[in-house]
Amino acid sequence: MNRPKVVDLFCGAGGASLGFVKAGYEVVGAIDADEDAIETYEKNLCGRDSVVEEFPGTIAFEEPLRADLSRGYEDEDIDDGLPTVTFNDIRTHFDIEPGEVNVICGCPPCQNFSSLRDTESWPEDKPKDNLLRAFIEFVAEEVPDVVFFENVRNIMTAGEDVPSTYIDWLTRSMKSITRDGDSKQEGGYGYALDVLNAANYGIPQRRHRTIGLFVYGRDNDDVHLPEQTHSEDPDPTSSLQPWVSVNDALGQYDDLKYDLQSGEKQVGIEGYPDDPEHRSRRHHSRTIERMKAIRRHGGSWRDLIDTDDEEYIVDAHDGLEGGAASAYGIMRGDEPAPTLTTRCTTPSSGRFTHPDINRGITFREAALLMTFPRWFELPSKNDAAERVVGNAVPPKLVEQIANTLLAHLRQVTKVEY
Ligand SMILES: C[S@@+](CC[C@H](N)C(=O)[O-])C[C@H]1O[C@@H](n2cnc3c(N)ncnc32)[C@H](O)[C@@H]1O
Repeated sequence: MNRPKVVDLFCGAGGASLGFVKAGYEVVGAIDADEDAIETYEKNLCGRDSVVEEFPGTIAFEEPLRADLSRGYEDEDIDDGLPTVTFNDIRTHFDIEPGEVNVICGCPPCQNFSSLRDTESWPEDKPKDNLLRAFIEFVAEEVPDVVFFENVRNIMTAGEDVPSTYIDWLTRSMKSITRDGDSKQEGGYGYALDVLNAANYGIPQRRHRTIGLFVYGRDNDDVHLPEQTHSEDPDPTSSLQPWVSVNDALGQYDDLKYDLQSGEKQVGIEGYPDDPEHRSRRHHSRTIERMKAIRRHGGSWRDLIDTDDEEYIVDAHDGLEGGAASAYGIMRGDEPAPTLTTRCTTPSSGRFTHPDINRGITFREAALLMTFPRWFELPSKNDAAERVVGNAVPPKLVEQIANTLLAHLRQVTKVEY
């Protein structure tokens, strides 16, 4: 059976890899620097019957590679002792032949452009984000047929005060990558790039991310992102489905209906299957009182203003916009979840309080809202568990993008996948 081959750079716990496997691809290599993410990837996706039996694709290796993908550019978040690798090192490690890779999938973190940091413009000759630069160099080393790129939404607008924006630099760089022997006209990557809302693709989460598809040797007009399948308020004459809500996503699991309280874990609860991931963080009693007060008056700490529960407004949030505006907010059950971040089970970090119960959502609930399968195991350390979930690209979204890519791959490779 022909399966297109994928290398997943910055693979995390494998959200994107899983999406490719669901769409029938063979992931032949995966690399990340985070030890917890690597362990999670390995225990869930490598050699697991659940993957082999449930999905048409495969993972071809026993363990992802833990390495630094910065190619020697400065990355202050990285462990000093970790080896840096070139694409050739990756080939050698995973036993991949040059030119064998059809797809490079990459989600290089661009922290300069997350919505909670500054987005000041940068001069053309001084790229601020080293990991994106490294990512382009990996692509140039292998020149695969297609490249899947995911990033924060702000990367699309960052640098708008200067004529050459960050995204222009990315697309121009991709356009100039040419295989040996190809002319400039024959080579280069055509692309489709946009900010997609995962909720519009049936994911129970409003998650806006920049998604790029780059196809070698094609014009931009020939490259397309998948059509939206869901909508907030679909026209009955259209084929669009309504958004999938938190209640839709979690309500199908009877055992999750047990009213798990703060600090409780679904292990050893009579009549319910053990699920160590279905555990809530333990909250301070004052936090629980704050949640109750917020629930009494609405769903946000702002609803406490001018009420007799004003004492529960955390001083630091008063008057703040952005992330802090949603702190301690109660998630709505009848809507998709808000964007799950790397702090998505921590109520002070966003609208992450359960719709009906006075506790943050559990790690299992977070993973399901990210469309990981129910059997997906997470790290036992709480911070690592919410980090790998919040960092992921929803597998169900990647599956749809990977299906769209199949058409491009058939055209480019003339192989019937
Ligand atoms: C957005 S997450 C990727 C999520 C992943 N694609 C998924 O779907 O689960 C970005 C990843 O980049 C990794 N990372 C950051 N800097 C790195 C570096 N210098 N080398 C390798 N990995 C790095 C982080 O550990 C994190 O897992």
